[in-house]
Amino acid sequence: MILVTGATGHVGRALVDELTATSTPLRALTRTPPRAGFPPRVETAEGDLSRTDALRAAMEGVESLFLVLPDGQLPAEVLPTVRRAGVRRVVLVSSLLAQTHPSSVIGAAMLTAETAVRESGLDWTLLRPWEFASNTLAWASQIRGGDTVRLPAAGLASPVIHPADIAAVAARALTEDGHEARVYPLTGPEALTVEQKVTAIGTALGRELHVEVHADPQPADHVARQDQGAVTEDPMIPGVATQESPGVLPTVEEVTGNPARGFHLWATENSDAFGPRTCPSANDA
Ligand SMILES: NC(=O)c1ccc[n+]([C@@H]2O[C@H](COP(=O)([O-])OP(=O)(O)OC[C@H]3O[C@@H](n4cnc5c(N)ncnc54)[C@H](OP(=O)(O)O)[C@@H]3O)[C@@H](O)[C@H]2O)c1
Repeated sequence: MILVTGATGHVGRALVDELTATSTPLRALTRTPPRAGFPPRVETAEGDLSRTDALRAAMEGVESLFLVLPDGQLPAEVLPTVRRAGVRRVVLVSSLLAQTHPSSVIGAAMLTAETAVRESGLDWTLLRPWEFASNTLAWASQIRGGDTVRLPAAGLASPVIHPADIAAVAARALTEDGHEARVYPLTGPEALTVEQKVTAIGTALGRELHVEVHADPQPADHVARQDQGAVTEDPMIPGVATQESPGVLPTVEEVTGNPARGFHLWATENSDAFGPRTCPSANDA
């Protein structure tokens, strides 16, 4: 039995879909089962990572755990509960910032969680994804309302990763041997600027979209934690990479045998979130 946490999220849902196509017994954790809409063959477990009693029940009979940490925080009781339940292996969604920017808030939090997982006594695999393609959903309301995406900064070109590729790597690590004590840094297949991502979404919609960068008098939102003096603040602009990427990495293809999916594919699959597709008129032909 595999237990998928974060099962209603971008990666977890893709993983549930991928594993549903196999014969592996599958359970999916959510805080709100009525809203989850998992496929019929998936067992639904109600639970919250910060509630040990519900977690204990969800772990019964589980051999492998897919672990997503909301906000990068690992509640102290999670791994002891998992181990006591007899779980053998854990696959953690960490972040590539743990490697590239270990003193950023997210990088530092993920390193702490990684260390706990490494020292848990379980077989472990660490997934370190770069920025998700799905972060561009933060622009959806602007794109639904007009043809210009206004951002406070253009940021850096970024090899955004399709969440389904993180799920594909996770599926291998959860169902095959040979991934124990491995750390997988994961990126998409090409580094794209904000303009290129917006253009790709426009192409998926059949619309011409533009980016307008305006110097915001307000500084970007920052994630800061008071109790970690050495930790730097992370500027957070949704959909905009503010930290330099390590470039395009080959890990997705090395692990899954399939090339990493591009942003254009993600934009096509998710175009509904940005508005209706515009059909080319007869005059355009
Ligand atoms: N976005 C990025 O660019 C990026 C890059 C690298 C790493 N990451 C990491 O990826 C993870 C997010 O993955 P995602 O985007 O697939 O998730 P997501 O779409 O943000 O969804 C969050 C998931 O976490 C679950 N959840 C929230 N609070 C919970 C709690 N207290 N107990 C149990 N489950 C809880 C939610 O389930 P229910 O609401 O159904 O309970 C939902 O399935 C984070 O750890 C993030 O740091 C993100």
